[in-house]
Amino acid sequence: MKLPRSIESVDVGGRVILVRVDFNVPLEQGAVADDTRIRAALPTIRLLLEREAARIVLCSHLGRPDGVPVDSLSLRVVAEHVGELLGQGVAFAEPSAPLILLENLRFTPSETANDSAFAAALARGCDLYVNDAFGSAHRRHASTEGVTRLLPAYAGLLLRREIEELAALLDAPERPFVAVVGGAKVEDKLAVMRSLARRADTLLVGGKLAEELRLQDDFADIRAQTVLPTDVVAAESFAPDAPSEIAAPDCVPAGWVALDIGPRTQSRFCDVVKGARTVFWNGPMGVFEWARFAEGTKAIAAAVADCSGRTVVGGGDSARAVQELGLAGCITWISTGGGASLELLEGRRLPGIAAIPPA
Ligand code: 3PG
Repeated sequence: MKLPRSIESVDVGGRVILVRVDFNVPLEQGAVADDTRIRAALPTIRLLLEREAARIVLCSHLGRPDGVPVDSLSLRVVAEHVGELLGQGVAFAEPSAPLILLENLRFTPSETANDSAFAAALARGCDLYVNDAFGSAHRRHASTEGVTRLLPAYAGLLLRREIEELAALLDAPERPFVAVVGGAKVEDKLAVMRSLARRADTLLVGGKLAEELRLQDDFADIRAQTVLPTDVVAAESFAPDAPSEIAAPDCVPAGWVALDIGPRTQSRFCDVVKGARTVFWNGPMGVFEWARFAEGTKAIAAAVADCSGRTVVGGGDSARAVQELGLAGCITWISTGGGASLELLEGRRLPGIAAIPPA
């Protein structure tokens, strides 16, 4: 896969730079609850500061406010947080300050509509555009695609690293290459499972996904590489304290639900993961927010961390799991993209990346 040209390759001194970041971070009680995505964007911001850009205008969306201002989705608190991490003030929506963060781009419908007048308003007064928002690279929005028609566009350091790490899984993975996919919705993951099954030696499938996959007729083409759970933790109802028992997937009592992989599956999956030279993991093995159904996900996280090969964790819940378990430092790369990382691994062209000229 061709890399887009890097912001490192251009002189930014004295210039005004519009930077699309993905500061779509979880907030709790009005504060940033997980700043992984913010920290991941700091190297690009620091590079621009070090190379003496005249002004840096950061922009991002936060949540899905549907085109109207929503107080609880203001980026003001994020601007403060970025300032603390950088050790330098980040002005909020103050046009003349040297380093600013704009208000949530999705407070107007123009952003997601990729409205050209909105893109022009973003680009106004800027000399260059940098996209460092890998998590939003699968969106064709004014700030990810529209502005690239108006300003010379470059990739930020995070965007480039994400592409390198994920593309390496598709291009030349060291073998054995094991992909672990979990989560709930089969329709969201079928395409990526197909793509991974073509490249991986083994595809381990857990979570509700595994159950749904069993019912799919059109999964015959990936059956050979796919390993499904042989036991599950079945619960009487979908509740954190529901009575539970270990059962074979086809022996779950009527009306009960499978909320985790069982111990036999856990140890089988973990053995395969530990023996791999390349691992990609996306999606929990069960309802890991509930302690009693978190064991499978925890075991996979530990096995991925233990694996001595290249390990890549793709966004969302699995990234949260390795972070919460304090295992993030043992993973080669934790993607900041959820949907974006899956679409890239499906082999699709992401609009936010395609819009930047190649290196
Ligand atoms: C994400 O969290 O996956 C990105 O920030 C994109 O958000 P979106 O799905 O609301 O476009």
